[in-house]
Amino acid sequence: MALGGMFRNAAAIYLHLVGPFRGKKSGASLARCLHQTLVMTKQLQARRLDGIDHNPWVEFVKLASEADVVNLGQGFPDFPPPDFAVEAFQHAVSGDFMLNQYTKAFGYPPLTKILASFFGKLLGQDIDPLKNVLVTVGAYGALFTAFQALVDEGDEVIIIEPFFDCYEPMTLMAGGRPVFVSLKPSPNQDGELDSSSSWQLDPTELASKFTSRTKALILNTPNNPLGKVFSRAELELVASLCQQHDVVCITDEVYQWLVYDGCQHVSIATLPGMWERTLTIGSAGKTFSATGWKVGWVLGPDSLLKHLRTMHQNSIFHCPTQAQAAVAQSFEREQLHFGQPSSYFVQLPQAIQRCRDHMIQSLKSVGLRPVIPQGSYFLITDISEFKSKMPNLPGAADEPYDRRFVKWMIKNKGLMAIPVSIFCSVPHQKLFDHYIRFCFMKDESTLQAMDKKLQKWKDELRP
Ligand SMILES: Cc1ncc(COP(=O)(O)O)c(C=O)c1O
Repeated sequence: MALGGMFRNAAAIYLHLVGPFRGKKSGASLARCLHQTLVMTKQLQARRLDGIDHNPWVEFVKLASEADVVNLGQGFPDFPPPDFAVEAFQHAVSGDFMLNQYTKAFGYPPLTKILASFFGKLLGQDIDPLKNVLVTVGAYGALFTAFQALVDEGDEVIIIEPFFDCYEPMTLMAGGRPVFVSLKPSPNQDGELDSSSSWQLDPTELASKFTSRTKALILNTPNNPLGKVFSRAELELVASLCQQHDVVCITDEVYQWLVYDGCQHVSIATLPGMWERTLTIGSAGKTFSATGWKVGWVLGPDSLLKHLRTMHQNSIFHCPTQAQAAVAQSFEREQLHFGQPSSYFVQLPQAIQRCRDHMIQSLKSVGLRPVIPQGSYFLITDISEFKSKMPNLPGAADEPYDRRFVKWMIKNKGLMAIPVSIFCSVPHQKLFDHYIRFCFMKDESTLQAMDKKLQKWKDELRP
């Protein structure tokens, strides 16, 4: 038998060499020596993962799966997508067999076509489906592709906090340097609930963050976790600084249809001079309440998108064809109903505003102080009162208070939320460690389960 056939793998070599010595002293040391050569001793983790290998989400998502906990933490709807979208997916799976195969790398043509025509009207641009649209694996895929394609070693990226938590690791993995600037609440009348609109950027502080190394600014409106919808005036400030310093604006607008109280979502790409330097990111998951479909897109000028196409072609290649077909058909339906009461983009925010208001009323009953969100799936609530009444919750001394509070709430009250310090840079966590984030994009039955838990909590508060 040829030698190569005898020793098919490392385990076989090990057994062959060590087996006869088992139980003998000299054998034990030989075994140790051989074991060391078989276990890899090289530095395995790529340097780009340094500092980002611990993700608090893993811990909190695990806690949410514990028995009898109402999960108001993670951002997904626990109700079905609209019938027309589900039917479109069923049709994609059972119809044309070619939808089981690869499609064009930069997007299934009917999808890039409808995205171009739908968003072309909204953004006031003549969008070319081949040059100005890239379909990605969710908005996550769009963000990753954008950071990898544009951010170079040492480039600075301005991140407005609190921020969707992947912006920081994505900047770092691309070799960039995150530069943080915080939204800060303005003081309100005592007893009144705060609104996310009163959280603002200090224009002087924002301007001071731009340097000759600034490559990009990442904007998220409506914002996760705060639910802030940036006003036109705020966007004009960001736009003028981006233009003044020749900076790309990456704008994450995945919650654009979820705005409340008549609030208007404004895309920064529609402001004068901004289309040329803006990447606008969207998500079918958030648009059609189907987060598992993982279809996203980026819209922008060819001068930027050509680099994203290079990156995408050489990494992800493309997003599943059937999901793209379902999204294409869903957008075609929405285009026909646009602006009418039958439109999902009209009906969804109305329904979700009721969920938001329900949650606000319920949370107030136990002394939590919600900040009223103008948009998104989320609201944050102030827990300062609890911080002063129960400052010594279990947990490590350096663990931010909001994380200890959420663990306490899961264990003692059966309710899961997400600590807001997760959405902040480490040096600024103290500024935000008295807020927690709840997701109200939930079915009526989940909100009722929340009410039961809160009623019990309220009863326990009675002297
Ligand atoms: C602000 C923001 N951007 C992007 C995403 C990711 O979207 P997708 O599920 O389409 O990847 C999320 C998901 O929670 C989000 O909140």
